[in-house]
Amino acid sequence: MHLDEKIWLTLSFGMIMVFMLLTGYQTFALGMGPPSHNETIDPQKVDEIAPFNEPGLKQIGENEYELVMTLQLFSFTPMEVEIPAGATVHFTLTSKDVVHGFQIADTNVNAMVMPGHIQKISQTFDEPGEYLVICNEYCGVGHQFMSTTITVK
Ligand code: CUA
Repeated sequence: MHLDEKIWLTLSFGMIMVFMLLTGYQTFALGMGPPSHNETIDPQKVDEIAPFNEPGLKQIGENEYELVMTLQLFSFTPMEVEIPAGATVHFTLTSKDVVHGFQIADTNVNAMVMPGHIQKISQTFDEPGEYLVICNEYCGVGHQFMSTTITVK
C-alpha cells in the first residue's frame, strides 16, 4: 500500500473515532441525548390504569404540580385547568386512540402523544394568562376543534 493511502486511511479512521467519542461524551456524560421516555401503557385500558384513572392536577411540591391528562378524539381530559402563577407543572400524557399533539402556545411545550406510550414534559408558568393548548398532529375530522386552555393566575 502506498504511504499516502496509509496516512489518509489513518486520518479518516482517527476522525471517525474522535467524532464517536465526542458524541458519546455529550450524550452520556453531559446528558445531551434526545429526551425520551420508554414508559408504555395499554391504550385500551387507560381509564383503569393509574395515574390515568384519575386525570387532573395534583400538587406534588411547594410550587410544583403534576397534571395527568388523557388525549382522545377530539378532546383533552381534564378540560379546565387552573394553575397558580410561578408554578412548575409536570405533564403526564397519553392517548386513548390515535397520535395526537400537545402544544402550548407561547411556550416551548410541543410533544407528540402516542397511544401505548406515556409522554412527560415540564413547564414553569411565570406569566399569568390563558394558555391555548392545541393538538398539532392531524388526528381525524375533528382535529381542528381539538383544543383547550390552561389558566394561570
Ligand atoms: Cu388530536 Cu389532532
